[in-house]
Amino acid sequence: MIETQKIRKFFPAIKSGRIVSNNAASTQVPIQLLDLLKKLIAQYDNVHRGQSQASMLTTEKFEASYDTIAQFINAPSRKNIILYRNATEAINSVMYSLMTEFRDGDNVVTTFMEHNSNYVPWYGLCKEILPKFEINVECRIAKFNKENGELDLVHLKSLVDKKTKLICCVGASNFLGTKNPIEKIREIAYSSGYVQPNGEKKSYLLIDGAQLVPNIFIDVQELDIDFLVWSFHKMLAPFGVGALYAREKLLKEMMPFLYGGDMIAEGKVSPEKVEYNALPWKFTAGTPNILGTILSAQAIRLLIDFSLNPGKYKYFMTDKKLERLDVKKAMNNIEDHEKELIGEALKILGEIPSIKIYGPKNPENRAALVAFTCGDKSPFDIAEGLNKLGVESRAGCHCATLAHYYYQLNPPASCRLSFYIYNDLQDVRKACLAVKKCVHCK
Ligand SMILES: Cc1ncc(COP(=O)(O)O)c(C=O)c1O
Repeated sequence: MIETQKIRKFFPAIKSGRIVSNNAASTQVPIQLLDLLKKLIAQYDNVHRGQSQASMLTTEKFEASYDTIAQFINAPSRKNIILYRNATEAINSVMYSLMTEFRDGDNVVTTFMEHNSNYVPWYGLCKEILPKFEINVECRIAKFNKENGELDLVHLKSLVDKKTKLICCVGASNFLGTKNPIEKIREIAYSSGYVQPNGEKKSYLLIDGAQLVPNIFIDVQELDIDFLVWSFHKMLAPFGVGALYAREKLLKEMMPFLYGGDMIAEGKVSPEKVEYNALPWKFTAGTPNILGTILSAQAIRLLIDFSLNPGKYKYFMTDKKLERLDVKKAMNNIEDHEKELIGEALKILGEIPSIKIYGPKNPENRAALVAFTCGDKSPFDIAEGLNKLGVESRAGCHCATLAHYYYQLNPPASCRLSFYIYNDLQDVRKACLAVKKCVHCK
């Protein structure tokens, strides 16, 4: 059980009376992280670029942050973790790093329920970049079931063949809320028979975990996937940091995405040859988001503490290794809490006859978000009405443009409520009753 009453007092936004229900876009930052930011400023200096006490201390904290992030998803080590500005940049980095490996006639398989971040890069690669080099790669898109929002695995399987270099699929849809069966998708990817340049016989699998990693227990070794991306601004940290997890072998083989300082091996630059730094720094060109990285790792530690015992700090601001059992218990707690919240939202919204809810009906199978439309009523008007009633929502296509057109929604828009660890049933009820009011007024 999540003790929301204890958690809520750490969030200035909630204390100010806001009903924060647009968490699928970004979550709120707790005071602990704001205080930490102030403290970090006192020893502010660059990393890997100075011999001052401040630089060394900051470097230590910065590097240790990679360990925390790796431990959180059970990656073997920090070498598997590459940090970028957001999940979108992390996906783009995979696209650019793998770009030169594509062969004429290859294909990439993605789905109609992707966020544009996991569709547009592959569209750009296939339709704009590779054709300039006279390499034709097809971007194939798997359907989903319009009624229950589930990915059509039969269709997905039919699109995958010996020419499929990569399957790129969302872990949980930010529009439908659908949680995809990663193991089944992995089976399809790994039995495709595609021969990668390194001799591996399988299609790679990239999971967009933006709506998954902040909300459920993830073990990348158990999931056995090649790439996972997500962002920290959806799990209590401030904006500015997204992560890529990848298998070490792949990161060793892949070309860097960005070239420049700190990603080269010390002194190994000459007109003839440049050698790259060890992982993960091979992929960290230029001065990184140092404070954001430290705050992101501490957000993980705080999230676990909030979930297990709010107000007591077992992990926050310590260098304790995250125990797997604690991570599991904490994240399962969050998942259960979110199921309760979304179950209540589905129940109340489901009683409004004029509303169409998208995605799975069963809270077991969905993330803590719900998108809906109401006949001809503009989702933007509903969201505006909600805002007037003090309820925060998001209207638009939520960057899931393909899926909105898939439902023939024109304009491609719906209104969405989404919840996180600090929301309680009261918030959900207030938000849904406000929806009731808004859809009934002219
Ligand atoms: C499923 C999904 N993928 C990718 C993204 C992009 O994340 P970011 O804005 O951090 O790049 C989002 C953000 O809403 C998302 O929900």
